[in-house]
Amino acid sequence: MSTPHPVITIDGPAASGKSSIARLVAQRLGFTYVNTGNMYRAVTWAVLQAGVDPQDAEAVRSATSSILIESPVVEGQTQVCIAGHSLTDADLNSDPVNRAVSFIARLNEVRERLVAEQRVLVLLGPLVMEGRDIGSVVFPQSPHKIYIDASEEVRASRRGAQGHADQIAERDRLDKQRKNSPLIVPAGATVIDNSYITLDQAVEQVIAALKL
Ligand code: DC
Repeated sequence: MSTPHPVITIDGPAASGKSSIARLVAQRLGFTYVNTGNMYRAVTWAVLQAGVDPQDAEAVRSATSSILIESPVVEGQTQVCIAGHSLTDADLNSDPVNRAVSFIARLNEVRERLVAEQRVLVLLGPLVMEGRDIGSVVFPQSPHKIYIDASEEVRASRRGAQGHADQIAERDRLDKQRKNSPLIVPAGATVIDNSYITLDQAVEQVIAALKL
């Protein structure tokens, strides 16, 4: 199944630098940038706002089944709105959301819902979409797949420099070991090790790997 516009898929573990790289690649190409982690974070934010225990799968399912999620494009990138409320970076990256998001992201119902929302976004035009399962599950037929990796030490120190103290090793463990759509290197992806190169070099490597 081909898509009406190209989709560059960028996957990788937490704090590998994939968001910064994806945003710049999208700007260079004039494509819309989609951060799917923010969609999982938005659902998590809504669950916490509703006072639901993120580890109580049944309660999460019923709290999320009727949530209205929208992804309006502002300045070349999608935002996340829940029930008409546009979420800020502070909402999406709070410590409670960091702690809970991997529990929410492993629920089949949540994933099916968000994967469907992500697939529809290709109607907007050419995309750079980043996450954990974009090349493996959301757009497996895309010929433009990138996987960004970095050592655990480098990723932990980048996350600390961003002012977050979340346990990325634990989040990665949950993301890689979950049954539904675990984080993997998608078939056909170009792997870029972003541990010891600059952001500009990483962007150049991505652009060089693409056959657009
Ligand atoms: O990219 P991020 O760290 O903001 O993602 C937050 C969480 O969302 C991450 O722990 C795993 C989950 N996620 C996912 O399961 N699938 C995606 N496509 C994107 C994120």
